[in-house]
Amino acid sequence: MLNSKIEAAINAQINAEMWSAYLYLSMSAWCAKEGKPGMANWFEIQFREEQDHARIFFNYVLQRGGKVTLAPIDAVPTEWKSALDVFESTLAHEQKVTSLINDIFALTLSENDYATQSMLKWFIDEQVEEEENAQTLIDQLRMIGDNGYGLYALDKELAARVYSTPSPLAGK
Ligand code: FEO
Repeated sequence: MLNSKIEAAINAQINAEMWSAYLYLSMSAWCAKEGKPGMANWFEIQFREEQDHARIFFNYVLQRGGKVTLAPIDAVPTEWKSALDVFESTLAHEQKVTSLINDIFALTLSENDYATQSMLKWFIDEQVEEEENAQTLIDQLRMIGDNGYGLYALDKELAARVYSTPSPLAGK
């Protein structure tokens, strides 16, 4: 049975992951409109991954006999100044998500909830990857500056990103 404090924290995280999905879909739309289809593809995959994150938490609440409570999803930004701005916003957002995951992990320590600690391990590793990916793209965009060919080449590279089902949802 899921402790009620942990249940509330995970329900809040489901909402945060759905907000992230909505944010990345908005970024995908902005990139597409700016003529950067590869970046739009990259954010479209982020959008799908965030929905997966929400689903992993959703499945976990049910598996532990808890109640899933879906709250409204707040509005997301719709405008960015540049490709660099969109990826800097991505990194800032992922750092915020990391601190949300860390807060839930801290709560599991005070509540002695070992099963939730184990489930959260996948997310802790995932956040390291999420921050690293955004930082790498920021570094590349800073190197490119406003070199048109550089932006074209990076956009082409990001068009090749493909979606894969995260391991906690494999076979579900
Ligand atoms: Fe669900 Fe991008 O962290």
